[in-house]
Amino acid sequence: MVTHSWLLITDLDHTLVGDDAATQALNQQLLQQRSQVCLIYATGRSYPSAKTLQADRQLLEPDYWITGVGSEIYEQGKLEEPWANQLSQQWHREKIIQVTQTFPDLIPQPTAEQNPWKISFYLQTPHAATILQELEAQLALQKLPAQIIYSSNRDLDLLPLQAHKGLAMAYLIDKLQIDRDRGIACGDSGNDIGLLMQSTYGVVVNNALPELLSWYQTQNSDRYHLASQPYAWGMIEGLEKFGFLPSGL
Ligand code: GLC
Ligand code: MG
Repeated sequence: MVTHSWLLITDLDHTLVGDDAATQALNQQLLQQRSQVCLIYATGRSYPSAKTLQADRQLLEPDYWITGVGSEIYEQGKLEEPWANQLSQQWHREKIIQVTQTFPDLIPQPTAEQNPWKISFYLQTPHAATILQELEAQLALQKLPAQIIYSSNRDLDLLPLQAHKGLAMAYLIDKLQIDRDRGIACGDSGNDIGLLMQSTYGVVVNNALPELLSWYQTQNSDRYHLASQPYAWGMIEGLEKFGFLPSGL
């Protein structure tokens, strides 16, 4: 097994991706120590959609992909089956779908964004908070364990309890036996909170959404850095601050 000396796990849209010059500047720095860093992309996108983004935006090839908000892990195009098997426990996809059908405000996302461990909708109404509470209550009543993740005031993901970006990351840290204190996570939205929580260090890019900014404000921890710059510029700033990249290049 390759031993990496540190771990970088990053969200894609609006974090690593958003300003092409910044993405390329970070790529250059990472390439200089590519074999030392275990690079993981963690995205809400499906694997095919994430690969398309990689080609469009010239992203480095990572060591692992965490896709579908942590519902799938891929290594070199291959689904990580132990993770999939773990998620399948206590997950009643069809019954959960039946419950969601009683909520007319939940608009299913395209088929390409659904997978065996992820059921995704759009929910855009001023009453979203109440609807989410009712959904949670219905699922609990019917004893259907599920995790409800609402991001960007638009995207609603229902996932097995063990599936989120942060737990997928924890699974990989255990599998690869990487020192937790040598890990840093970067993100911009609600579904990145799990990543930051599991990680010793974290960077919130300056363009982060209110849901992540308000979480950050409650943390009061110097393990997390709110960057003064957006997108991958903010990542570089945080990586330098915590000593993962040489500063002031
Ligand atoms: C990405 C996915 C979508 C998901 C959202 C939030 O946009 O394509 O399915 O709901 O991330 O996690
Ligand atoms: Mg994002």
